[in-house]
Amino acid sequence: MENNKTILITGGCGYIGSHTIIELVKAGYQPIIVDDFRNANRIVVDGLCTIIGFSPSIYEIDVCNEAQMDNLFQEYSFSGIIHFAAYKAVGESVQEPLKYYHNNIEGLSVICSLALKYKVSNFVFSSSCTVYGEPQGLKEVNEKTPKVQPSSPYGYTKLVGEQIIEDVQRVNPSFRAVNLRYFNPVGAHPSALIGEFPIGRPNNLFPFITQTAIGKQECLVINGNDYPTVDGTCVRDYIHVCDLAEAHVQAIAFLEAQNGVCMEAVNIGTGKGTSVLEVIQLFEKNTGEKLNWKFGPRREGDVIEIFANAAKSKDLLNWSPTFTVSDAILHAWKWEKNLQLHA
Ligand SMILES: NC(=O)c1ccc[n+]([C@@H]2O[C@H](COP(=O)([O-])OP(=O)(O)OC[C@H]3O[C@@H](n4cnc5c(N)ncnc54)[C@H](O)[C@@H]3O)[C@@H](O)[C@H]2O)c1
Repeated sequence: MENNKTILITGGCGYIGSHTIIELVKAGYQPIIVDDFRNANRIVVDGLCTIIGFSPSIYEIDVCNEAQMDNLFQEYSFSGIIHFAAYKAVGESVQEPLKYYHNNIEGLSVICSLALKYKVSNFVFSSSCTVYGEPQGLKEVNEKTPKVQPSSPYGYTKLVGEQIIEDVQRVNPSFRAVNLRYFNPVGAHPSALIGEFPIGRPNNLFPFITQTAIGKQECLVINGNDYPTVDGTCVRDYIHVCDLAEAHVQAIAFLEAQNGVCMEAVNIGTGKGTSVLEVIQLFEKNTGEKLNWKFGPRREGDVIEIFANAAKSKDLLNWSPTFTVSDAILHAWKWEKNLQLHA
């Protein structure tokens, strides 16, 4: 199995998954994708095929369907798994908690049990900085920063997801795992052939900005301008999606190089915070577009300020981001304009 470079990517047609496929292919891996398109668009698959130069194998299966997933594990001998498939909208998770607990927890436990059954050792899980909640004191968090009680069912699915993997790993030493704690993924592939494709009203800042600029949304409301931050608006660590994608390849390579027990959590961020207002100003400056925005009231549950301590990702995974927030803005805007051509 030494040269086996077949990686199962669940949720591989989604935003982060599709960008990760490109980096995996570049690094010589064979991606096998599972995605039932519940939150993906086939435009992204077309763009992906153009970028990588072939049509990857895509299985339209629900990851919670253990029988169908078992067939796939029988068909392929996977050398690693990257598990993206999950729901991700914080607000929706508050309204529909069971939808989130079912898909995010059940999906993960199915994949873990098949990984054990078929002895697939290398496992990368999409976790989130939501596990840190609102940092007390220092706004820069490292992997030892205590995890807190999440403010949403979505947050719980990441906290519990990490716990499931740690518990599984403890009694199965040959199962090696990395929980990647993403900060705020933004931007699009520089070709603008793939990018974020929000279904319905966007929950994240970048698609909301680009959709407002192009006229799909009327006005961007900044939730709160009286927080104790640099300019009163919330501060986040925005990580370009292509850099984030590359971190997954590094995580797989790291796991492949391990012989002993391995269970790690790693922040994937830039180490730098940028305020919402700063992003808007950068967007206007870099694109020359005038954005219709206004301040509104604070939104319940919003973390005020958080950014990554990125030392561990550099030391352990030999990974550092290369793109800036300005790059991400330009790429996201190019993608939005490209999408309009398909409309
Ligand atoms: N985007 C973010 O801001 C962010 C931040 C932190 C963590 N994450 C996590 O990263 C992962 C990927 O996020 P994303 O932004 O690419 O989301 P996404 O919704 O774009 O991608 C997820 C993909 O998984 C698929 N999927 C979901 N449930 C499935 C199921 N049961 N069976 C088969 N396919 C299924 C969807 O169709 C979609 O293509 C998620 O686990 C998310 O929670 C995302």
